[in-house]
Amino acid sequence: MKSYPFFRIRTLVAGALLLALAVLLAAQTAVPDDRYRLSRVPDRIILTWSGDPASTQAVTWRTDASVHSAVAQIALADAHPDIESAARTIQARTTLLDVEDVGLTHRHSVGFTGLAPSTLYAYRVGDGEQWSEWFHFSTASREPEPFSFIYFGDAQNDIRSKWSRAIRAAYSDAPKASFMIHAGDLVNRANRDVEWGEWFEAGGWLNGMIPSIPAAGNHEYWNDERNGNARRLSTQWRPQFTLPNHGPEGLEETVYYIDYQGARIIVLNSMEAVGMGRAEDQARWLEGVLRDNPNRWTIVTFHHPVFSVARGRDNPALREHWQPLFERYGVDLVLQGHDHTYGRGTNLMQGTTVRDGEAGPMYVVSVSGPKMYRIDAGAEWMDRLAEDTQLYQIIHVEHDKLLFEARTVTGELYDGFELVKLENRRNRLVDQMAGTPERRQNLPAAAAPAASETP
Ligand SMILES: [Fe+2]
Repeated sequence: MKSYPFFRIRTLVAGALLLALAVLLAAQTAVPDDRYRLSRVPDRIILTWSGDPASTQAVTWRTDASVHSAVAQIALADAHPDIESAARTIQARTTLLDVEDVGLTHRHSVGFTGLAPSTLYAYRVGDGEQWSEWFHFSTASREPEPFSFIYFGDAQNDIRSKWSRAIRAAYSDAPKASFMIHAGDLVNRANRDVEWGEWFEAGGWLNGMIPSIPAAGNHEYWNDERNGNARRLSTQWRPQFTLPNHGPEGLEETVYYIDYQGARIIVLNSMEAVGMGRAEDQARWLEGVLRDNPNRWTIVTFHHPVFSVARGRDNPALREHWQPLFERYGVDLVLQGHDHTYGRGTNLMQGTTVRDGEAGPMYVVSVSGPKMYRIDAGAEWMDRLAEDTQLYQIIHVEHDKLLFEARTVTGELYDGFELVKLENRRNRLVDQMAGTPERRQNLPAAAAPAASETP
């Protein structure tokens, strides 16, 4: 029998151990991120509108692909716990969606119709065996009545870890908010399921109670390499958000409006306008929606700013095609994202920078997630600005007054103003900016990330 020197055996054993360790590590890194596993139990439940908020409500949710017959049940909400016996059942529309890194999933959507205005309802979703909890929501009034809503700039990165504190702080401050506006870049990679999983986890059950009004940002688009690198909307967007289909052709559910208690909320798709040549046809649609507008207040939201805050950013197509309409038709408030900074200002009638104490459209750029850029030293349109600060905004709308508050995620008032509606004149602006010092990055210029993404 051949004998081996001791050191050789030791070398072989050590080599085998190292190999085993390498195989183990490789196996671990190959494990997919399956934090948001599918099951028959409904998740990612979210309220949106595809019709009139006084008489309709849409709900969308996710299950695995084994659930073919999904339903929602709805009843007038009552303190009596036997909700089931009073509920009516509505069959869902089910969409099969092949999700990157996950496989086949089902998205189910129900549009509740014929609802009474200003009424509290209870609903749940499921398949007859597996149910969500009962959620409550309120329909809007048919008449103009005071209400509040929440507006977020980009969530985009570290959504579960750090954006969650933004949406939860906003809810703590405005638990009766009528809806939440998300001004684009809800996630970083349009089709990456774990990012949507994080977004839905951060909002959790709030999404089942307070309707969302989402706008698509550049990060909701992906490069279709198999089709000439065409830029396409996230495959998840339409299946998971049930939104109005009345936008320009091809932009349905990303260009739409909703009338809520005396305010028209208009959502535009700035990604297609800035990067894909679709500013003009959206302008034609927008003009119709602004011209025939019976509401006292008009609020427009989209992702890319008309006036940029961050270094190296500019979207002239929006100033050419949209800004003149905002001014001609008296848009009150324009809510944007994309620049990962905060900026708020007005009185920029086209071709002039004269400040006359009255407010034309008020432009706001904000950020709710943790990704931060530097402010462009040459940008002079802002009356209040911030760097390196996660924020959320609460807007309160009354008959002749709109109150805007920007708060840091720690709940401090950072910026505020009031717009007073005057007959046949521009709004009066009452500045209510917080007295706290301007928040700027305390970093040398070279150390701070530049705004480098395009468009
Ligand atoms: Fe963006």
